[in-house]
Amino acid sequence: MSCRSQLASWQALKLSANKMKETHLKDLFAKDSTRFEQFSTQIPGVLFDYSKQQIDNNVFEQLITLAKECDITRWREKMFSGEKINITEGRAVLHTALRNRAESSLIIDDENVSSVVNAELHKIKLFVEKVRNGQWLGYTGKTVKDVVSIGVGGSNLGPQMATEALKSYADDTLKVHYISNVDGVQIASVLKNIDPETTLFVISSKTFTTSETMTNAKTAVEWFLDSANDKQAIAKHFVAVSTNLEKTAAFGIANENVFTMWDWVGGRFSLWSAIGLPIALYLGFDAFEAILEGAFEIDEHFQSAAFEENIPLLMALLSVWNTSFLGYESQAILPYDQALHMLPAYLQQGEMESNGKHVNFEGNKVAYTTVPIIWGMTGINGQHAFYQCLHQGNVVVPADFIASVEPQVSVGEHHDILLSNFFAQTEALMMGVDAQQVHSDLTAKGKSEAEIAQLLNHKIHQGNRPSTSMLLDKVDAKAVGRLIALYEHKIFCQGIILNVCSFDQWGVELGKGLASKIEAELLDDHINHPHDSSTNGLMAYYKQHRTQ
Ligand code: F6P
Repeated sequence: MSCRSQLASWQALKLSANKMKETHLKDLFAKDSTRFEQFSTQIPGVLFDYSKQQIDNNVFEQLITLAKECDITRWREKMFSGEKINITEGRAVLHTALRNRAESSLIIDDENVSSVVNAELHKIKLFVEKVRNGQWLGYTGKTVKDVVSIGVGGSNLGPQMATEALKSYADDTLKVHYISNVDGVQIASVLKNIDPETTLFVISSKTFTTSETMTNAKTAVEWFLDSANDKQAIAKHFVAVSTNLEKTAAFGIANENVFTMWDWVGGRFSLWSAIGLPIALYLGFDAFEAILEGAFEIDEHFQSAAFEENIPLLMALLSVWNTSFLGYESQAILPYDQALHMLPAYLQQGEMESNGKHVNFEGNKVAYTTVPIIWGMTGINGQHAFYQCLHQGNVVVPADFIASVEPQVSVGEHHDILLSNFFAQTEALMMGVDAQQVHSDLTAKGKSEAEIAQLLNHKIHQGNRPSTSMLLDKVDAKAVGRLIALYEHKIFCQGIILNVCSFDQWGVELGKGLASKIEAELLDDHINHPHDSSTNGLMAYYKQHRTQ
């Protein structure tokens, strides 16, 4: 792969960035009444408006050239065809195969991918129906009422985010609870409200070695056996989702109760595999299938749309433009839909774990900022918290605004009020309020020149804050599938443009390894590893002051 910063388009974009920093978005809108038509695109269920991004025709063309020079088409083919593009782990990256229900001849590691995917989906369907129909019985012959999903990171965030997004559609067949934190407070608060006779635990861990998940799973088994008092009963109350059959068996979960996933599915892209089992249990298999269908639609769009209309590619190009060229180091995700309240957390993992890298594919240090810091919360709550800084702080934070045309639940005028805020915020961030405007507003309010002079600078809003607006038809299962797949492909394109390997997470492994050494030291005073004085001091204080 070529060094990105030497590409002609990269050099051209650097020059354009200097110019664009001097240009105000409101002037671009004033100059061109067709800006919205030019810089927005629609696909079924999604309107994508990026006209409030700091680009002009010239930058747009340069970005499209960058995508071509980075060979996005060839990389896209490599991914969809199962080439091992996760070069540091020697794996294919095939989460797209999980939502393609057509039979194909793709063979990975001696397995026909579509056969194993469809077989596993069939197994999920039968299991879900059995549990939801009341045919799956616990050790005392009672039906399941509560599902407890234990997993962390990619084995938790996707299912929990989708569950939260779609809970308006749930019937009351089952309740679902998620446990991800090894902080005992979380599992204790779930266990105290459920009944072992009517609870099904889903232990989700690709590796089945993740310390937090294994600790929570062990606590759940102990709690269960306190009541059941019979190890045979575990088979009726514990199922696992994993690639590691040895470990699941060693844990005591019968093979027929293990749902498989594969090495070619990365944790943070695994919601479409059996990792999504809690979603299917909660909402029914049809809803899970609809999520897959929505994502498949986007896979088709991503593969067939021209670059100029290709939403995930445009999302990636805009992110690289904002971060690596304009120097904006963070990006806010602002859903104006309560259903999507976990989206920022989900995308934090998706984007930052994927592209938070400092070396390129060849292992050489890159000369540009890669991923921005992703953060956010529901827009309305954010408005009353951090938006002050978005409007008037001296850092610029590009934002994705996401809302739906139809609410999941219609209550009086709530949705119009919600959407008024959505529209108002993107407009205000872009337009700002200049000195002249502040002056005439204050004059109209009868303020004296002296009072105006005192207030003027405080009331100026610079504007020129870029945002993208996404309007979904409605947050339903298909829409959730579409939205997540759009971001997944964005992350993929962003990684290719930045020339980083988006599929590993060595930075996470570092902390995991050290934590397990320290855990041994906390449990046994005779074990001592060398640490810096701060870590030694913190550990000593903890050991001295802990009461148990
Ligand atoms: O956070 C690091 C990570 O490796 C994620 O990529 C993964 O989703 C998560 O841990 C959980 O891993 P596992 O599914 O193996 O328990």
